[in-house]
Amino acid sequence: MPPVASPKPLPAAADPADPTSRAGWLRLAIGHHNRRYFEADDPEISDAEYDALLRELRAVEAAHPDLITSDSPTQRPGGSASATFAPVEHRVPMMSLDNAFSLDELEAWGARVAKGLAGQAVTYVCELKIDGLAISLRYEDGELVQAATRGDGRVGEDVTANVATIAAVPKRLVVPSGQAVPRVLEVRGEVYMPIAAFEALNARQDAAGDKRFVNPRNSAAGSLRQKDASVTASRELAMWCYQLGEVVGGVDHKSHLGTLQWMAALGLPVNPEIRLLPSLDEVHAYCRRWQQHRHDLEYEIDGAVVKVDDLTQRQLLGSTSKAPRWAIAYKFPPEERTTLLRDIMVSIGRTGRATPFAVLEPVFVGGSTVGMATLHNQDQVRFKDVRPGDTVIVRKAGDVIPEVVGPVLADRPAGTEPWEFPTTCPCPLATPLVRLEGEADTRCVEPECPFQRDARIIHFASRGGMDIEGLGERTVYLLSDAELVRTSADLYRLEPEQLLGFEGFGEISVGKLLAAIEASKQQPLPRLLVALGIKHLGPAAASALARGFGNLRAIQAASEADLATLEGVGPIIAASVSRWFADERNRELIDALHAAGVEFGKVEVSRLPQNLTGKAIVVTGTLAGFSRDGAEEAIVGRGGKSPGSVSKKTFAVVLGESPGASKLTKAEALGVPILDEAGFVELLSTGELPAPAPAAS
Ligand code: IVH
Repeated sequence: MPPVASPKPLPAAADPADPTSRAGWLRLAIGHHNRRYFEADDPEISDAEYDALLRELRAVEAAHPDLITSDSPTQRPGGSASATFAPVEHRVPMMSLDNAFSLDELEAWGARVAKGLAGQAVTYVCELKIDGLAISLRYEDGELVQAATRGDGRVGEDVTANVATIAAVPKRLVVPSGQAVPRVLEVRGEVYMPIAAFEALNARQDAAGDKRFVNPRNSAAGSLRQKDASVTASRELAMWCYQLGEVVGGVDHKSHLGTLQWMAALGLPVNPEIRLLPSLDEVHAYCRRWQQHRHDLEYEIDGAVVKVDDLTQRQLLGSTSKAPRWAIAYKFPPEERTTLLRDIMVSIGRTGRATPFAVLEPVFVGGSTVGMATLHNQDQVRFKDVRPGDTVIVRKAGDVIPEVVGPVLADRPAGTEPWEFPTTCPCPLATPLVRLEGEADTRCVEPECPFQRDARIIHFASRGGMDIEGLGERTVYLLSDAELVRTSADLYRLEPEQLLGFEGFGEISVGKLLAAIEASKQQPLPRLLVALGIKHLGPAAASALARGFGNLRAIQAASEADLATLEGVGPIIAASVSRWFADERNRELIDALHAAGVEFGKVEVSRLPQNLTGKAIVVTGTLAGFSRDGAEEAIVGRGGKSPGSVSKKTFAVVLGESPGASKLTKAEALGVPILDEAGFVELLSTGELPAPAPAAS
């Protein structure tokens, strides 16, 4: 089918107060960015922005488990770690920063600092928040010996060869006269791509007919992850250093500013806009000034970082598990841009949901180019009253998710009418769309709708499903247009000669794709179950079904009551699974998959140590190194249980970022041990509770 008829939208903001629409919207956004990244190789947002989307979705789902859907990106294995760069353990963890999104929040941080220091006078160091990526440089006896990315803060990646090509990074430290160079000196800072280097890089890409890079931050990250360091060298990266990590045999510093001056004297690049400011009023003025003048700089910044200068005071304030209390990042408010709303279109999902989205004249806003934004549903479009031809205001909500704020009414062309939601599906069958009373969504309810069919196959092949590499959205559309596939089972009947001749398909790529399809027949049962796209059935319940019944046919034959008896399979999931198998079309699909040789009974046996047998461990909040499912799988795979609520039988509660308040309160009331992520990692490896750690400083 023509790709314009069902392009996948770039989602825009939903009401953050409404978890249902927020979660749906976050999923759309993540799906869209996955496709931009993995299939189009043309990301619109940075890795960090992508992570923020995922984190937010995990947090929403953690707070509202009933909103978890089987196709949620949180239900897929993580996979962010690189297989190509050696891991580097940070001996001093690379912490992140807490954020203040307004001057009031900055003020509140100042009040917390004052309270923590019992009213002592505080002097602040204000720095620019460089929009790059954090890197640790390790010098031994003054020689650069290692450079590593931040990774998850505990383990990063070794990028020494690449960082060594950055002119601003000294390979050998200058030793100030009369001082000894520390035996070990770890310096942290931000590697970035200057705007001029970014523009020159894109000019080279244009000249070579290659794809343009999205923004300086992504380009810097990509440049550091090159296997060939000469490519990194050609990218003209730079660095600003702002913090020390591990120091062995160093000079005893009293203040942060003194440390920075010493670092500069060693030959390290220290940003010239750093200021020592005696009051929060002056800190405000610094933030406001740079908010206004951020584009005067030769590099991108996304805020200011405010740090307590006195190192003894820092010790007193200490840190949380994630971030120091003595520093805060003041994030600039989202930038807004206006652009032309070219059109409003509707996409059809695998369940038939019709989602309107804005097709925009591409506009660079908040660090990336935005060309589409979801408009969620009929009511949202009506509420915003945006019309094709309007000039609209576009911004990034929370600096991450693009949204159409509304029209610029003064610029509205004469004679436009409010946009009408289509009455029929945009697919060739043009079936009437249905909106049930009391529902926000409009749906195509035609089971043979080719757009739904395609969406189902895309889901089947996706990473959370059968994970068929090379079978992305575009390929599915190609195969569907050529009438080679109508159901997921048809994939297993494809022959090389049917594919050869398609644009972009040579012998090698056809061979690879068919091999990936063939290999997927051996996927374990939980994956197959998820790939079928049964509503509410995520990987945890799929694993429970697989363990409980051992074979897809047994699950098919089970009654709803049988299904519901399994731990981890509630009545909603049981009803949904039962309903799915009751549909004749689905039973035909199962038969066809079976005939094609898809494995129905592969239940993976855990090879992990069974050191948590019988122990119930509740995870609440977002963990840095584990997805929600990843944490659950780590516990269950070791014989433990991961219930959703705390009771006196709970062995431990693992506390991530933004934990559920009730779980925390209950754990405290019942005296259940509470672990941070490091404690959780130890528990996984030993099966025992870690010894209480001394208070963080
Ligand atoms: S200090 C423990 N200073 O912002 C404090 N970070 O959002 C460590 N960043 O991970 C960070 N400019 O990658 C610091 N002047 C600056 C910074 C800065 C940019 C980045 C850094 C950090 C992130 C937190």
